[in-house]
Amino acid sequence: MSQHPTAEQLRSAAALMTGQAAGMPAIDRRKVLQGMLLGAAGAAFTPGIFGQVEIPPSEIRLMFNENPYGPSPKALAEVAKILPKTAYYPGAIEEDLVGLFMARHQLDRKQVFLASGSNEGLQAAMMAFGKRGKVIAPTLTYSDHLNYAEKLGVEVLRVPLRQDMAIDLEAMARAVDDSVSLVYLCNPNNPTGMAIEGDELRSFCREVSRKAPVMIDEAYNELTDKPDGSSMVDLVRGGENILVTRTFSKIFGMAGLRVGYGMGHPDIVSVTKDHVMAWPNGVGLYAAYHSYLDEDFIAFSREKILRGREMVTATFRRHGIEPLPSQASFVYANIERNADAFKTAMAARNVRIRGIYEGYDTYSRVSMGKLEDLEVFDSVFSEVFVG
Ligand SMILES: Cc1ncc(COP(=O)(O)O)c(C=O)c1O
Repeated sequence: MSQHPTAEQLRSAAALMTGQAAGMPAIDRRKVLQGMLLGAAGAAFTPGIFGQVEIPPSEIRLMFNENPYGPSPKALAEVAKILPKTAYYPGAIEEDLVGLFMARHQLDRKQVFLASGSNEGLQAAMMAFGKRGKVIAPTLTYSDHLNYAEKLGVEVLRVPLRQDMAIDLEAMARAVDDSVSLVYLCNPNNPTGMAIEGDELRSFCREVSRKAPVMIDEAYNELTDKPDGSSMVDLVRGGENILVTRTFSKIFGMAGLRVGYGMGHPDIVSVTKDHVMAWPNGVGLYAAYHSYLDEDFIAFSREKILRGREMVTATFRRHGIEPLPSQASFVYANIERNADAFKTAMAARNVRIRGIYEGYDTYSRVSMGKLEDLEVFDSVFSEVFVG
């Protein structure tokens, strides 16, 4: 049996902390929480001790940038209606969903494609262009599609970040020559969370896309300070040599349903589509369609995630750590100790965060969870960090 409290115990304690224990002053709630943490860490846990039936110990997941508030309740209700009809391949829903993107961004059909998660779109573009030449990408960035393509023989040239951990646009532009077939960057970047200002990126894209297509991964766009201003979709609309990818896995809270999409120059879309392998997932498309229209849910999720970002930032700051400025659903900070060992110590207490990204041995990344889970993170972080 675990030496540490389960996530459910910790959540009960956090409910006390966030005021759900009606009428109890904050200071008393804090004492109860401390008692729970210390007691549970020192002694074997008796199931049901906090008024719960036996719940399998589950973890607090702060490692994959998911949105646990999703999916949208309206989308779930619509999905329930469609499930009995999934004997059939999806029909009009595919065009209906693409139609929403076309209307929102004033694009035509040839500028949009769907994929099973944005990762599939990114992989498809990597293979489509990577077989024609080198791909340029920052050293520290979202890399699943880069690693996938490298395994299949694509050459990826990594450009180091600037001293302040921002993507070095000047160095990336300098690296583009005739041997380069695609330039990838992610805005805001993962894992740093840092965003490039819209106009700065726009002039980079205008200049570089004359030499090679530029693929901008906007997985976290809806969480930035200025989602429209920082998006490169206007360049797509203007016919530039650009591909923008988006996803339903982040603010929409549908990571398990696997829906992403790309918006780009018709030639880029055409060749990328040819490399997409999966056929669309009808249930995911339904959920995506109704989520996209559920503005209340989108505003609710954004508010919770931004509030969570403040909470995690405050936890770091209370321990003298200044995290990088994040415009995404995670916070990245130099904890000045081995991030893998720290991750393991947190995981032993049922709180899962990210450890080392190559070359950044002392940086931890913490994703947003439900606010009560971030209260737990705060207590467990202090326990592990202070020792
Ligand atoms: C920057 C970035 N792009 C793309 C993805 C892939 O997401 P999905 O395939 O679920 O759309 C992720 C997932 O974490 C990500 O962080």
